[in-house]
Amino acid sequence: MDVLLHFFVALHIIGIASLLGGFLTQMKAMSAGTARFGPAMLHGALLMLITGMILVGINEAQGHALNHIKIGIKLAILVVILGIVYVKRDEEKAEKGLFAAVGALTTLNVFLAVLWV
Ligand code: HEM
Ligand code: HEM
Repeated sequence: MDVLLHFFVALHIIGIASLLGGFLTQMKAMSAGTARFGPAMLHGALLMLITGMILVGINEAQGHALNHIKIGIKLAILVVILGIVYVKRDEEKAEKGLFAAVGALTTLNVFLAVLWV
């Protein structure tokens, strides 16, 4: 089961790479107002949701104590991210503020995940 758990942690991290990478590589374009919420960001965000829920399931099944408040907040933040990225996915140019918000919220979730035990 440990291998399974770590397998999904790895996929969870690949999801962050896809979502946050999509943001970081477009920061210059964001300033120019030409960034867009590409497929890498949408698929990364979806992967976070799926792998996150699977990680909760595996942890619960193994009787590991999870910080449900932290997970609930991470989930709420991701739902906001996913909502923005999904609704705006077909727009050629993302608004600066929304694009920045997705980057900031994703970064916030990374720090929540690792700093709040
Ligand atoms: C059920 C799962 C998935 C399906 C059906 C799917 C489908 C697709 C499709 C149709 C495209 C082409 C979109 C376009 O050209 O407009 C695409 C592109 C892409 N997807 Fe996915 N995808 C899935 C999962 C993932 C995952 C898990 C990741 C990464 C963690 C990912 C990352 C990407 C990237 C990086 C691109 C190319 C982005 C670009 O050209 O700018 N996808 N995917
Ligand atoms: C943008 C959204 C998210 C980010 C950036 C993120 C980030 C991370 C990171 C960096 C870890 C590894 C560090 C650790 O183990 O604490 C992690 C683990 C985890 N994440 Fe997320 N996460 C996100 C969304 C979610 C969601 C929506 C859920 C649940 C529905 C979730 C559930 C979990 C669980 C259960 C673990 C613990 C794995 C373990 O240590 O056994 N995550 N997340």
